[in-house]
Amino acid sequence: MDVKALVSQMTLEEKAGLCSGLDFWHTKPVQRLGVPSTMVSDGPHGLRKQDQEADHLGVNDSIKAVCMPAACATAASFDRELIRRMGEAIGDSCQHEELSVVLGPAVNIKRSPLCGRNFEYFSEDPYLAGEMAASYINGVQSRNVGTSIKHFAANSQEHRRMSSSSNADERTLREIYFPAFETSVKKAQPWTVMCSYNRINGVYASENPWLLTEVLRNEWGFEGYVMSDWGAVSDRVAGVAAGLDLEMPSSGGVNDRKIVEAVRSGKLDEAKVDLACERILNIVYRYLENAKPETPWDKEADHLLSAKIASECMVLLKNNGLLPLSKEDDVAFIGEFAAKPRFQGGGSSHINSFKTTSALEAAKDLKVTYAQGYSAGLDCATDEQIAEAVEAAKKAKVAVVFAGLPDSYESEGYDRTHMRMPECQNRLIEAVAAANPNTVVVLHNGSPVEMPWIDKVGAVLEAYLGGQAVGIATVQILFGDVNPSGHLPETFPRKLADNPSYLFYGGEGDKADYREGVFVGYRYYDKKEMDVLFPFGHGLSYTTFAYSDLRLSASEITDKDTLTVTVTVTNTGSREGKTVVQLYVGDDKSTVLRPVRELKGFEKVALEPGESKEVSFTLDKRSFAYWNEQIHDWHVETGDFTIQVGQSSRDISLTGTVTVKSTVELPRHYTADSIFMDILTDPKAVQALQPLLDAIRQTLAPSGDDATEAAKDAVSEDMSMAMLQYMPLRGVMSFGGSVTPEALQALLDSLNNA
Ligand code: BGC
Repeated sequence: MDVKALVSQMTLEEKAGLCSGLDFWHTKPVQRLGVPSTMVSDGPHGLRKQDQEADHLGVNDSIKAVCMPAACATAASFDRELIRRMGEAIGDSCQHEELSVVLGPAVNIKRSPLCGRNFEYFSEDPYLAGEMAASYINGVQSRNVGTSIKHFAANSQEHRRMSSSSNADERTLREIYFPAFETSVKKAQPWTVMCSYNRINGVYASENPWLLTEVLRNEWGFEGYVMSDWGAVSDRVAGVAAGLDLEMPSSGGVNDRKIVEAVRSGKLDEAKVDLACERILNIVYRYLENAKPETPWDKEADHLLSAKIASECMVLLKNNGLLPLSKEDDVAFIGEFAAKPRFQGGGSSHINSFKTTSALEAAKDLKVTYAQGYSAGLDCATDEQIAEAVEAAKKAKVAVVFAGLPDSYESEGYDRTHMRMPECQNRLIEAVAAANPNTVVVLHNGSPVEMPWIDKVGAVLEAYLGGQAVGIATVQILFGDVNPSGHLPETFPRKLADNPSYLFYGGEGDKADYREGVFVGYRYYDKKEMDVLFPFGHGLSYTTFAYSDLRLSASEITDKDTLTVTVTVTNTGSREGKTVVQLYVGDDKSTVLRPVRELKGFEKVALEPGESKEVSFTLDKRSFAYWNEQIHDWHVETGDFTIQVGQSSRDISLTGTVTVKSTVELPRHYTADSIFMDILTDPKAVQALQPLLDAIRQTLAPSGDDATEAAKDAVSEDMSMAMLQYMPLRGVMSFGGSVTPEALQALLDSLNNA
């Protein structure tokens, strides 16, 4: 389709109309020109296709579909292929249901355990979130169906989500809150991007030209269309100018008319409207020209795929040897989630599952008894329920308590107010563990919880929100049919107050200041050397692995080179399993504040008992760089970097060092107020400064023949240099002898041009 030609035939009214939705879920048709309407749907871990009358927050039912594990879980797989496969299945179901775009993935950073939508998000780490998102997008789009990566950007809280301003410095945005979007655009070119509700440093995402045009398109090369989150538009005309192509849903024609008026009055360039239409129509036709409604959708097969994915995501947090269980043993399943698992979160991602399989059902042929223990909906446990659970636990060899967060505790639209599990469930776990020392806890939650009972139970399996077939995967792992291989995509702090955003999260009124800066998640806990409940990247297995023989392809590179890091991993246990090799990089010495380590590579590797494999990673400039606010670009400071390889952020078994030399000279802006310390780190400037330095040294710490012994004793050369380092250059007029203002200016000129 020649989209440009098509747009040239459209009236201004038709063009303005195309820039907003027909209803909740459709783009507008242009009947006169035969442009059809296309449908979009949530997303991200299955389809929530609704009919015309539907509301967008899921009060009305959507079609029966397959609920795959939510992003909190899939991120824990650390498996790019797996999430790609999930994307392919979702893409096929979109083709079957004639959906042009699925609204996801959601990649916002898990800044605080409190964010109500954490279950929909991947990680506290931008690299992991970006890699998983890009694989998901590539999977869906391989089926000629679009994705809408969301919510762009810095949308890490639900509290006041439609009005608050996420205030963060440039470096924090670039290093933490943008990379998942950037990686996805560069590696997977999502067909659409959904801008977020919030403002960023005061400007709504939906009307932010820096965000939507400068960064997203000009820098990263995004080619698709930007749509608004549902109702995220404040000033539609400013939005068109900024690069917001499609407003969703419809504004009942109000904003379309504003666009027309703005063009007519000369306030808005019509070319901007044309461009938005072209971008929208490109995607409309990309889908239509490749539509395959005859694509089969085998829901039963997807149910099993969902179970398979869930089994690769679960994280074995603790195991004193209790797991795996024997199928011969009498086991008590305790807790309502054993019969009615919580497998997804509330809000726009809520899927009308065509069926679910609970752990109780999946274990129906095993020697398993059941006690409800608590009522999740009522958030309470009666004395009778607890007594019955204790009885069941006493009779069994092992008690497995299924616990976690009830629906009302975490959802889109509002935040949690604390990090605790329901009190009734904590009470139940304590009672069961007191009755039977062989107690296992299975958790269903989308974000970290406090575990006051951790020392009293033998094992903890984090199942996250594992999709409709979560019960199958849980039983496979509990009884050893599958060896757990998930790793935490986030830190579990001991208590909420330990979280770096604790003091500022939620903000004051509409001002949400991201004051912890780049120190989000493990970047903070590691720098603080803080004890955590479970660190980022942690995950146990029923086998053991050894990492050895770390090799770096060079000991010194420039920031234009790549470095290959190779490591040997061996399964040293007696059963097959998968390890997640994690590569972190730390800058040994830096003039900016940097984390101790940052994830820059990971690979999930399957190994038979005794088997070894080599795993290689390629690091490039970005792996070593920080965002430099002076040059508004990534920058590597010359120096040594530590390559750290291990099985979690707190289990680093191999380290190596590489020296990276910068090829970029930062611009010099020395003024009379620049202090010596800063100038002395610049080798070229030091040369220009040398004569003056000698003179000052002589003044501050006399050492020549004519200096008295007392003067020499009073100030050593080291002391004088230590004092000198904080002195501004203008100080030479007082301390450096006869330096005139003119000479100082000449010196500055030579320093700046050195
Ligand atoms: C959510 C989006 C969702 C959209 C459509 C919004 O409230 O923030 O994630 O895709 O609704 O349901």
